[in-house]
Amino acid sequence: MQYTNFPGTNEQVSVIGLGTWVFGGENWGGAKDAESLAAVEKAIELGMNFIDTAPFYGDGLAEKLVGQVISKKRDKVFIATKCGLIRSAGRVSHDLTPASIAREVDLSRSRLQADVIDLYQCHWPDPKTPVEKTMDALLKLKSEGKVRHIGVSNFDLELLKRAAAVAPVATLQIQYSLLERTIEKEFLPFCVEKGIGVITYGSMAGGVLSGKYKTAPQFGKWDARKMFYRFFEGGKFQETAKRVERLRSLGRPLNQLALNWVRRQKGVLTTLAGCRNAGQTASNAAAAEWDLSAEELGKVKNILDKGDQIMAEQKIRIEKVDNNALKALGVFGWPIWEKEVSAFDWHYDEKEVCLFLEGEVTVKTPFETVSFGKGDLVTFPAGLSCTWHVTHPVRKHYKFGA
Ligand SMILES: NC(=O)c1ccc[n+]([C@@H]2O[C@H](COP(=O)([O-])OP(=O)(O)OC[C@H]3O[C@@H](n4cnc5c(N)ncnc54)[C@H](OP(=O)(O)O)[C@@H]3O)[C@@H](O)[C@H]2O)c1
Repeated sequence: MQYTNFPGTNEQVSVIGLGTWVFGGENWGGAKDAESLAAVEKAIELGMNFIDTAPFYGDGLAEKLVGQVISKKRDKVFIATKCGLIRSAGRVSHDLTPASIAREVDLSRSRLQADVIDLYQCHWPDPKTPVEKTMDALLKLKSEGKVRHIGVSNFDLELLKRAAAVAPVATLQIQYSLLERTIEKEFLPFCVEKGIGVITYGSMAGGVLSGKYKTAPQFGKWDARKMFYRFFEGGKFQETAKRVERLRSLGRPLNQLALNWVRRQKGVLTTLAGCRNAGQTASNAAAAEWDLSAEELGKVKNILDKGDQIMAEQKIRIEKVDNNALKALGVFGWPIWEKEVSAFDWHYDEKEVCLFLEGEVTVKTPFETVSFGKGDLVTFPAGLSCTWHVTHPVRKHYKFGA
């Protein structure tokens, strides 16, 4: 295993970290506790000391399983968990108010059997709570000795800047892979400049980049591999598969190539690898046992340059959610158009994206559903925030990014 310094410290964290969303089972077609426990044991055995979890994963189950293992090996792990996604009466909402955080941290400490959490991260933004109040609450937890470092996840750049102005934000956790490289434009340079470590998730694109899918797999509606990592949707599987096959031609194990490439990018602190068992853990940990050569990195770049054009034709990226129009409607998180958006016209330039709706469109996030009516004009100002994947027949003439 290779290690790197956690920002602003001499603490060594592994360049490949253990991801535990799959332990929760519910978004991953089930998981076996014994296999999850073995995955944690294997990670520690192989020196993968960075473990990422969250109360959201299996409604506390992932934290409990991690806690079961690390309670006896606390000095061997750097434990990162999260706050801000609250379940209640079958719904999930965003809550980063000080009162909620104070409740959540004690629940996480108890499940993890850990007095102190090494890294405490805001899981998703809470549009209803000023981030300054959230950061004050996290600073209080630090002063109480309940958490050692503060991190954020899925924040847009503006929010990250506001948070970092109030508290020492050590890390940003965000999606980054050979298939999803949005963060390269603004987030990575900003984080490098400010010394914020980037923790990447989805770096195997939910398993696609392991190269194990020969045909488009079928998953349940809320399965992360369909709902969160949308690389199979809207006829994209063939295009994704083409890129995977090109990467395979480099002759490296694909899962390790995917993780190795991400961890080599400037600004990346730890590349998370979601592992459902000890075998996957061992195979993924091995991505830190070798380095892509300069020649191989060049070949990957060539493949990506080609691949980007292919992928670009398959989706529209709306680069920033309009705060006024959408936050007022409570749309945040990871939105999904519920049905094909066939009845709209659209316009995109460097400044904004406009959708002129000709019919009813329902937008579904993992947490809520919002409808837009006939005749609505939805405008999104440009600037990077989150990516909306719109599943509709390919339109070749739109352009991306400024
Ligand atoms: N902050 C956030 O909002 C956020 C969001 C997402 C993830 N995360 C964190 O980041 C971690 C990593 O992301 P992720 O787990 O979502 O995605 P990922 O690491 O890209 O993919 C993980 C999945 O890929 C498959 N896989 C892993 N290793 C494999 C191997 N060697 N061979 C074949 N298949 C393999 C497994 O699924 P199957 O066995 O089912 O195929 C596994 O669950 C998460 O576990 C979580 O800790 C955070």
